[in-house]
Amino acid sequence: MLNTPHITDFPRTGSPEEQLRFLLRYAILAPSSHNSQPWLWQIEGDEVTLRADFKRAMPNLDPNHRELIMSCGAALQHLCLAIRAFGYAALVHTLPDRSQPDLLARVRLSAPRPATANDELLFRFITKRHTHRGHFEDKPLPCELLNALQQQCEFEGAALHFAQTSEDRDSIVGLVERGDLIQNRDPGSRRDIADWIAPTENRPDGIPASALGLGDLMGHIAPLAQRYLDRGEVIAARDKKIASNAPVLAVLSTSEDTPQGWLAAGQALGRLLLRARAEGVWASFFSQPIQVNEPWFQLRHMTGVHHFPQLVFRLGYADPVAATPRRSVDEVTTVVPIGEPIEA
Ligand SMILES: Cc1cc2nc3c(=O)[nH]c(=O)nc-3n(C[C@H](O)[C@H](O)[C@H](O)COP(=O)(O)O)c2cc1C
Repeated sequence: MLNTPHITDFPRTGSPEEQLRFLLRYAILAPSSHNSQPWLWQIEGDEVTLRADFKRAMPNLDPNHRELIMSCGAALQHLCLAIRAFGYAALVHTLPDRSQPDLLARVRLSAPRPATANDELLFRFITKRHTHRGHFEDKPLPCELLNALQQQCEFEGAALHFAQTSEDRDSIVGLVERGDLIQNRDPGSRRDIADWIAPTENRPDGIPASALGLGDLMGHIAPLAQRYLDRGEVIAARDKKIASNAPVLAVLSTSEDTPQGWLAAGQALGRLLLRARAEGVWASFFSQPIQVNEPWFQLRHMTGVHHFPQLVFRLGYADPVAATPRRSVDEVTTVVPIGEPIEA
């Protein structure tokens, strides 16, 4: 189901359209909320337009589309890294605009330009990055890496806060638990989560049960249990354990809580996850304290009142995990013949 691209298949002498089609294979490997892959691409000549696919929204978990747009931001980052790694400039216009909320960015494949060492490094790990929901080793991360992750975020105008004190850690763990309890009481949120659990890997989207650590039988039962039972206590206890044991707990934030800010948060997320993988570090996420209002407001004590929390996650070393499925580039891309107006 996951058709991993190979560098040697790049159509070096192909048309810009063929090249962009190939480069989009890296974009679609980006992380997305519940593996919803909420992106649509439109290629016209040497330009590709990124649109949000609101049909893949989660109305209860993510009513404002924060996570949907962040997911698109991460895919945009992957595309730009791939363009640069293959030796071209990527001219990017980010476009969130209330009058056309789905239109997020236009990227032009531009004149040849050597990639920077940082771009090459991040690009190399696009096919090796996956979300790791398992146990992390009790081994600290080097300070240089934590600084490097903060720099990657600053590059996109976002900020990364690490829980430095035991009070900060306890506070984040408590907010994750609280988020789980509140969220699982709500039938609408439970339904959104259930809709995106994929019992088998034959489905090209959703989180495969195997990535959630479930076997075949439990994989088939999990969506039903998630939909109809409030398992908040069990989920909160599990998340408390993995969050408390994480070597690093972090909060990604932006100075704007707008579609532009969410897109930037996604671009920063794309960079920081790849930089972490380059050092053998895995990540996994806790969206609950962002999705539920009360913990989100409390998280702002950590990020400072001028910053808005966008994602909570943990980082650490662990055994490898497998990739999850993706829809193909063909399924999410249309090509506009050159000269025809791009649909507004
Ligand atoms: C904005 C955002 C929020 C996410 N929140 C969670 C989360 O709360 N829990 C979780 O297990 N994974 C979360 N994920 C990870 C996705 O489930 C994951 O990226 C997706 O299933 C694809 O798998 P991959 O990252 O291994 O490629 C999140 C990803 C994004 C981009």
